[in-house]
Amino acid sequence: MIHGIWGQPYLDLEPLLDLSELDAIHDEVCLGLAQVPTAYTGGSHRSMGIMPPSREDEALTDYGSVLSGLSAEDRAVFASLADDPVAARDEDTLDFGEERPRTLSRRQQLWLEYRHGVYFPWKVYYEMIPNHYWDEKSSAEGKAFTREARTFFPKTVAFVKRLPFTQIGRCNIMGLRAHDHGTVHLDGDPKLKPEVDHFITFCPAGNKRLFLWDEERKEKLHIDRRAYWFNDSDHHGVESAPFFRYSIRVDGVFEPDFLRALRERHPDPTRGAE
Ligand SMILES: [Fe+2]
Repeated sequence: MIHGIWGQPYLDLEPLLDLSELDAIHDEVCLGLAQVPTAYTGGSHRSMGIMPPSREDEALTDYGSVLSGLSAEDRAVFASLADDPVAARDEDTLDFGEERPRTLSRRQQLWLEYRHGVYFPWKVYYEMIPNHYWDEKSSAEGKAFTREARTFFPKTVAFVKRLPFTQIGRCNIMGLRAHDHGTVHLDGDPKLKPEVDHFITFCPAGNKRLFLWDEERKEKLHIDRRAYWFNDSDHHGVESAPFFRYSIRVDGVFEPDFLRALRERHPDPTRGAE
């Protein structure tokens, strides 16, 4: 089933936000991404146990599985490619990756792709406000837009700062190269987390086909809006397409007035999302 928000599968935020800048932001993001170093993300959803059983095969080669089966020689190669290769020699290989103490370095990601065939769905990932652990994404404490983000994406930063948040703890660009698909996964466990985290996804080009996945009915529900909020404890994925696509996700805490306005538009609240 799709849990949704307040009885809706997702909330269309277009009517409540000023999106007149999105065309200019699209130009800026494409130009900026051509100039800044980007990373890969995803690539371990199956081993993280966050995929629906019926779609696990779509993760292709998962780096969590690869890392748990490396030979001693390959573990040494992997450590040598870390951002801190000396420290990495004494660290557990499984300490690297998403939601792990150590971030995969760019060199490790490429080696996992080239040597072990790992599939990283999001190959153009750029953190404008870096955040390490998922459960810290809504808090602004100790975080800020990087100097690089402010230099290459000034209109985007200004737009994000105008969004109706009291604080922002994470902001990143999630891009998929042509023909790649975003593996279906969920970000939170609906049983453990009945409240919906506050975030806005916006897609300036309007061409990233995100969908919610109903595992019981084996059905997709596409979100074809340029700004939206969904329950990320619902399974979601991105359709493949023969061209580059991206969206920008901003996590934080919504302004009370914005939440009130949303509730007025969707007056059938189920469980509290505040
Ligand atoms: Fe997600």
